[in-house]
Amino acid sequence: MLTFRKATIEDCALYHSWANDPLVRDQSYNTASIDLGTHTRWFSERIINPDFYFFIFQNESQQNIGQVRITKDKDNNAIIGVSIDRMHRGKAYASQILNLASDYFLTENPAYIIFAYIKNSNAASIHSFIKANFVFEKEIIYQDQPSVLYIKTIQQCK
Ligand SMILES: CC(C)(COP(=O)(O)OP(=O)(O)OC[C@H]1O[C@@H](n2cnc3c(N)ncnc32)[C@H](O)[C@@H]1OP(=O)(O)O)[C@@H](O)C(=O)NCCC(=O)NCCS
Repeated sequence: MLTFRKATIEDCALYHSWANDPLVRDQSYNTASIDLGTHTRWFSERIINPDFYFFIFQNESQQNIGQVRITKDKDNNAIIGVSIDRMHRGKAYASQILNLASDYFLTENPAYIIFAYIKNSNAASIHSFIKANFVFEKEIIYQDQPSVLYIKTIQQCK
């Protein structure tokens, strides 16, 4: 069974290595690699801000297998992102961690809608969000990229 915890400042380097994974950069809207100084400032500001939920997931062997970030925005909207450690891809972990993190967030914040913007080409991600009970909202150009928008509300939680 997968378990999760909120990230702490100790996880800064781990998040940096995950953020600079080539596939993660490729599927992000800002594809440039991220230097450690920029990342450390970005991470340490957010980790203490209650509007940012950073979840780290472990498998049965206590290995860190991936992360989900949910960021509160205005008007009860929140944005979600996910990545799986490259050594643990291909095991359908993303749908499980998206489900656990989004259900946790929506139980704590039932008035929120979680928005997932995904590049059209990212079939594994789209598949994972659908399996985590996100529903298709629309096709959209997001940050100049052809994308799809999926959403989840408390009604979609099990
Ligand atoms: C996207 C990502 C999180 C998926 O991780 P994962 O859970 O290991 O993904 P998997 O390879 O197990 O595939 C997940 C599902 O998509 C399906 N899938 C994978 N590639 C597919 C493809 N090209 N077409 C259709 N379905 C596909 C798999 O069969 C699997 O389905 P299942 O759950 O029914 O078995 C991972 O590839 C990653 O970290 N990518 C980089 C970061 C990223 O893209 N984040 C999302 C940004 S929105």
